[in-house]
Amino acid sequence: MLTVHEINSIAVCGAGTMGAGIAQVTASAGFYTILFDLKPDILDKARAQIQKSLQQQVEKGRLAQPDADAALGRIRFTTDAHDCIAEVIIEAIVEKVAAKAALFNQLAELNHSEAVFASNTSSLSLSTIAKAIQHPSRVAGLHFFNPAPAMKLVEVVSGEQTAAWVSELLYQLAQQLGKTPVRVKDAPGFIVNRVARHFYLEAMQLAGNNNTSFKTIDTLLEAVGFRMGPFALMDLIGNDINLAVSTSLYEAFDKAPRFEPGKLQQHLVAEGNLGRKTGKGFYNYNK
Ligand code: NAI
Repeated sequence: MLTVHEINSIAVCGAGTMGAGIAQVTASAGFYTILFDLKPDILDKARAQIQKSLQQQVEKGRLAQPDADAALGRIRFTTDAHDCIAEVIIEAIVEKVAAKAALFNQLAELNHSEAVFASNTSSLSLSTIAKAIQHPSRVAGLHFFNPAPAMKLVEVVSGEQTAAWVSELLYQLAQQLGKTPVRVKDAPGFIVNRVARHFYLEAMQLAGNNNTSFKTIDTLLEAVGFRMGPFALMDLIGNDINLAVSTSLYEAFDKAPRFEPGKLQQHLVAEGNLGRKTGKGFYNYNK
């Protein structure tokens, strides 16, 4: 059984919105980090984003320049899955059970028999992901929030077959990363994404039915204390990911109308307007 003191390397799979941020967090905490994505251009973007984010911390006086340089130097950027050799694997790829299970199975062949496999899934059942894997006891959820370097909360999710030492290891790892871990049950959307679903879905209903603008709704909710309004937040998260989470909850709750995915968001995704990452979503970022 691996202990947190034995973790030297962490492989982060998927270098998109979440993977890049998680790699920054693990490297900043001193772990040798492998950041893997199938697309070289996404890795280039991730490197630039991490560099910019570390530099901002230097400018704010929160980080010394040599520490920022060292953190970036601890990340190996790769398009080759064979480089993902580590004590802990964290996946942040597409929100699909089959893709996550296939990646974990592939990496299990390459890694030590005690390596731990953590999924950053927002909504999928850890038990279902683990069922498709040869070593279900070493699979758990480690759900970071966006943006990963700034958000403290991490949901640690145990599936039906997750070994107690695995969830304990991930809990302690999250603490070592400077996060505030919370143990949650393996239920659709866990806690935050289940409750927050209505924040997004009701906002879309309101905009669609009442002809109220996105800006009006966002401005009012920000005025009463929400850090970001629902439309700005969906664009930050990525509309494809947010829609996948709604769809997953809708399916998990037997198509309960209260979880029905928003039509406005479905149109945006069909048009490829995924939010900030594509330059356009509910708002236009290319101006
Ligand atoms: P994204 O679309 O920004 O990035 C996903 C990346 O994974 C892409 O760069 C893609 O090229 C890569 N990828 C796809 N299949 C791969 C494979 N087999 N091997 C290696 N790389 C692969 O997605 P995002 O937003 O980073 O989400 C990733 C995961 O994190 C999802 O499970 C999502 O539910 C979860 N999540 C997302 C949050 C958000 O605010 N976007 C917040 C918390 C969790």
